[in-house]
Amino acid sequence: MSDLHNRKVYHPNEEFAKNAAIKSMDEYRALQDEATNDYEGFWGRFAKEKLDWVEPFTNVLDESDFPFVKWFDGGKLNVSSQCIDRHLDARGDKTAILFEGDRGDVQKITYKELSKNVNKFANLLKEDFEVKKGDRVVIYMPMIPEAAYAMLACARIGAIHSIVFGGFSAEALKDRIQDAEAKVVITADGAYRKTKPYMLKPVVDTALEGETPVKKVLVVERNNEEINWVDGRDYSYHELIKNKSDVCAPEVMDSEDPLFLLYTSGSTGKPKGVQHNSAGYILWAQMTMEWVFDVKEDDVYWCTADVGWITGHTYIVYGPLAMGATTVMFEGVITYPDAGRPWKMVQDHKVNQFYTAPTAIRVLHKMGEHEPANYDVSSLKVLGTVGEPIDPPAWKWYYEEVGNSKCAIVDTYWQTETGGHVVSPLPGATPIKPACATLPLPGIMAEIIDEEGNTPELGEKGLMCITRPWPAMIRGVWGDKERFIKSYFGDVKKDGKPVYFTGDGAVYDKDGYITITGRTDDVINVSGHRMGTAEVEAAILKDDNVAEVAVVGKPHPLKGEGIFAYIALKSEVSDEEAEKKSINNIIKQEIGNIALCDHIIFVPGLPKTRSGKIMRRILRSIAKGEEITQDISTLEDPSIVEKIVAMAK
Ligand code: WTA
Repeated sequence: MSDLHNRKVYHPNEEFAKNAAIKSMDEYRALQDEATNDYEGFWGRFAKEKLDWVEPFTNVLDESDFPFVKWFDGGKLNVSSQCIDRHLDARGDKTAILFEGDRGDVQKITYKELSKNVNKFANLLKEDFEVKKGDRVVIYMPMIPEAAYAMLACARIGAIHSIVFGGFSAEALKDRIQDAEAKVVITADGAYRKTKPYMLKPVVDTALEGETPVKKVLVVERNNEEINWVDGRDYSYHELIKNKSDVCAPEVMDSEDPLFLLYTSGSTGKPKGVQHNSAGYILWAQMTMEWVFDVKEDDVYWCTADVGWITGHTYIVYGPLAMGATTVMFEGVITYPDAGRPWKMVQDHKVNQFYTAPTAIRVLHKMGEHEPANYDVSSLKVLGTVGEPIDPPAWKWYYEEVGNSKCAIVDTYWQTETGGHVVSPLPGATPIKPACATLPLPGIMAEIIDEEGNTPELGEKGLMCITRPWPAMIRGVWGDKERFIKSYFGDVKKDGKPVYFTGDGAVYDKDGYITITGRTDDVINVSGHRMGTAEVEAAILKDDNVAEVAVVGKPHPLKGEGIFAYIALKSEVSDEEAEKKSINNIIKQEIGNIALCDHIIFVPGLPKTRSGKIMRRILRSIAKGEEITQDISTLEDPSIVEKIVAMAK
């Protein structure tokens, strides 16, 4: 980070800034001051202005049971109404969801049509599946409009959805179904990838083998491939939806009634069911759409994430629809048939805001450096990035080749737990620097501090924390209050009080800009997907011949990080390659392809302290090919390090 303080500054496009939601740094500071001086007044004002309340709230923030907080207590609303009903008069014929299928098939679903589809879906869940307020519904779906209908239908009847990314294995799906005690699964027969059909329903069948809380499965037919139907359990969406009424009164929800769970990896144990509630979440989803993406009435906005991740929740479905935007949903692969696909889509649909992950930017850069120039991408105004720290070369390419040096890049830093962006440039206000998330958004008290709450010396790494509760923050870990407190409020204190720690390291530059340096815990970020080392290790340990394992992240030119596993076997094998394959096969079964190891080495033992703690720092250094500078004299067997270094070469 030697050039941290001397990065080039790019100022907002003046023409753009004139009409931006936040037009200048003065406006930004005024909002920030408003929040600092009267935190509850600030949030109360926006909650009143932005949300359609059935009954107004009586209290803005209740921290009496911190870290379990309540926002907008007494208020009643429905998130699906916020996303649909309130737009019907003003923009009923506007496209809400612009779907492009893998094979180029396009569907434009207006707000009126969305309303009908969601209401029918809600009636189906209520009438045929007896889903009630508070019930959990697992959604295991491809990127098709029905996934959004399913989410909003749950929100409409007060059911809590829990989406499991379609790349997760049957075992991972089963764990999540059981932890959430879901009574319904919504899935599809499958979908298309690179024009070929792939399947999801068989994975659900396997996940439901044995004892399961699931009573019914709804199957959306997307590719019409042959699937297995279990009598009395599996139902066709297309059959059931036919005779449903398109009117379903929205369930009146309390501000703090749960909206969804989303399982995410932590540094220890199994994935956690991150719980988000209704009012605070939808408020911030909507506000950040306005502030960070600056979406205008006639704009077309495209986020390339999958609905299986938080980015898909907040910035494909809830945020864009809450503000009445046109949101693009894409089933395919952005590099298929070639690396011009996204730019062709930008041209075809006149996309104004484009939001993707650094890993995608690196791949598009590598595969098609000059592809953007082959298309008319002049409609673009704001480019976004999320999911991992972006590297300056990728940033520069994005800015120059995709954005034609005229679009703002919003490097949005946030997490599943924060619900929406927390540190990000504002495209009409913030001067940006390459690969820098810049400043906390107004109302978010994000600070880099050390464990005692002090600001680190300039240029020194510290811990990325949020020192006051914010409306879209995680409300709990499903079924585990202790884990919620321990995971997020255990490590850092400010003024003697625990504060929310993100798990990321960060550093200030001389202008007070925040640059995220990556996770400080045992979480690996593979292509922008969070993987807990503990989860991958638990999977590998299912191999009977594995005695011990430690996995770490290794920098990867495209994926950001790849997984590197050090494995001690119980007995030697004659064919190491076959053993590696079989280990990766287990990972595929237990978690899914996203957690496959790039590197596996078989070692005689792991470097451990005398108390038995694995020294991961050393293993991380070895994986990176760095010189070992750590003191290894405290290890139980220091000679092991030398042996591993030799083997890793
Ligand atoms: C990382 C994704 C640097 C970070 C929204 C965080 C980032 C984790 C950025 C959350 C960014 C996300 N710059 N790092 N702009 N955005 N991260 O829960 O390590 O899937 O903790 O949420 O991604 O991943 P999650």
